Amino acid sequence: MKEIFAKIFGQSSQPEAFFSPGRVNLIGEHTDHEGGYVFPCAIDFGITALARKISDRIIRLHSLNFDKDYNAPFEIAIDEINEKLTGSRTWVNYPLGIVSILIKHGYKFDGGAEILYSGNLPDGAGLSSSAAIEVLTVKIFSELFGFNIDGVKAALFSQQAENEFVGMHCGIMDQFAVSMGKKNHAVLLNCSTLDYSYAPLELGTCKIIITNSNVPHSLVGSEYNLRRQQCEQALADIQKAKEISCLCDLSMNELDEYSSCVKDPVNLRRARHAVSENARALRASEALKAGDLNMFGRLMNASHVSLRDDYQVTVPELDVLASLAWEIPGVIGSRMTGGGFGGCTVSIVEGEAVKSFIDKVGAEYEKQTGRKASFYETGSNDGARRI
Ligand code: GLA
Repeated sequence: MKEIFAKIFGQSSQPEAFFSPGRVNLIGEHTDHEGGYVFPCAIDFGITALARKISDRIIRLHSLNFDKDYNAPFEIAIDEINEKLTGSRTWVNYPLGIVSILIKHGYKFDGGAEILYSGNLPDGAGLSSSAAIEVLTVKIFSELFGFNIDGVKAALFSQQAENEFVGMHCGIMDQFAVSMGKKNHAVLLNCSTLDYSYAPLELGTCKIIITNSNVPHSLVGSEYNLRRQQCEQALADIQKAKEISCLCDLSMNELDEYSSCVKDPVNLRRARHAVSENARALRASEALKAGDLNMFGRLMNASHVSLRDDYQVTVPELDVLASLAWEIPGVIGSRMTGGGFGGCTVSIVEGEAVKSFIDKVGAEYEKQTGRKASFYETGSNDGARRI
């Protein structure tokens, strides 16, 4: 990357190196935007960047993943960053969104930056490549310009950039996980209060296997925002009868008690997913603490069923992957992970069974769907950092 950096940006001074992981959510899916718990970990795959500060107030960006057809970097004056770009090279909207949000928060840019990015996160797979590039970019500016932005703020600024600049109304989970991840731990995050704790990810002889359905999650923007609206409507209906600030304030019993308040049966199913998933996330983190991996696995499986039947964000390919995994001896649990509508499943698999898992799921998935799955084994990693 150093050689390419020098070729693209010139050799005036040595760049510094940064890395941000992606994330996989173990359980607690579609609960972050409803004020509930999530339980993700940062993974071994991610995005590396080389960056240096320059005296001109100009941002120059280049990606080894997306800019193969360009031999010059993307370039823009800081004062010209107003709204997201359309057309080609739209990946730059993530770093530009960060610059725009930092300016909004009063950070002063007494110069610009040249940044080269290179990632090994599969694109569109729901492993948070967008959160990774956002948090990485905050980290870069924080270090190069002495802004001193801590990890929680970096996550919040990144979420704001995605909500306001890119236009995806995501919750805080992805940015928080890639910013605040800790090696060998998962993060239990309360998305209402941002209170968090680390749980040792003690899986014994088991491995975390991510299986990419290779169905790109293209609908995720519009369908995601629709699910959020449906939950908001259910919340508004219940708030007429009970004082709560978010759906995940409710227990399953309370949701049941107030279910007649929710006018639209579809919205009730959406709410039922959020409330039941919140309870599952808490139970699962406790099961892990108590060393009860089998309980953890059963809760992962139940999470998939709820995302399939109540929240309806799986696609047939993800359902095939999960069902195949459930049948294989040595699989502790398996579920879709991330926003849904394509992307990946996450499975906890006994070390000895990993090979047969990959062989069997791979072959049968191809037979049933005509698509090839990709498999990644990952550990849990630290959050975004200078390397
Ligand atoms: C996407 C969003 C997150 C979260 C998940 C679903 O990854 O970016 O905020 O809502 O979907 O759990």
